[in-house]
Amino acid sequence: MSDNILVFYGSYRSDRMGVRLADYIVSALRARGDNAQLVDAKEVDLPMLDRMYKEYPKGTAPAAMEALAEKIRSADAFVFVTGEYNWGPQPGLKNLTDHFLEEWFWRPAAVASYSAGRFSGVRSGTVWHSILSEMGMVVVSSTLAVGPISQTLDAAGKPTGAAGESLERSFGRFADDLAWWTEAARAQRARKAPPY
Ligand SMILES: Cc1cc2nc3c(=O)[nH]c(=O)nc-3n(C[C@H](O)[C@H](O)[C@H](O)COP(=O)(O)O)c2cc1C
Repeated sequence: MSDNILVFYGSYRSDRMGVRLADYIVSALRARGDNAQLVDAKEVDLPMLDRMYKEYPKGTAPAAMEALAEKIRSADAFVFVTGEYNWGPQPGLKNLTDHFLEEWFWRPAAVASYSAGRFSGVRSGTVWHSILSEMGMVVVSSTLAVGPISQTLDAAGKPTGAAGESLERSFGRFADDLAWWTEAARAQRARKAPPY
């Protein structure tokens, strides 16, 4: 079955590199038959958090927020592509994510981290695991950790060299893990309505 998977990425930098990983993941999920779509926080461009989506009276949220809420509600699973700024998450991705809460519930999520260096953003990835758990997602244990990103993926998001080959080898297990939990969550939602 084709899963609807949203791939979130949140750097606002002009010379951003992580979009290579986000593009790679979207392509690789599509190659497996999934309906994967990139949600680029910079492109969606929500304001710095003022009101959460649910705090707007029905039908009055800004159009971009309303459209994203609908996308999140209809997704089967999520992938968060996270870079690392000073050992923590990137503010653009966190800002987008915080606008929603109940919209995320009862679906699995996976974390793919990256950085310019060999630590591959894993400190930020670990923080995202806790954040996503708090927001009602079931976070799968498989992760992708990519670094140095410039030596792993080219500007078109194509794997390069030995690091790129290693990423391609890791991707199957990462996607299989997410797919297994996606199927389990879908079956359980159909069997029994979520309790809240
Ligand atoms: C403000 C800032 C803080 C950074 N902090 C870290 C860090 O803590 N650990 C790390 O490995 N790389 C760090 N880097 C380097 C990033 O991994 C690298 O710039 C990466 O390309 C950022 O993602 P982006 O290009 O998608 O914005 C930092 C970069 C910036 C701009």
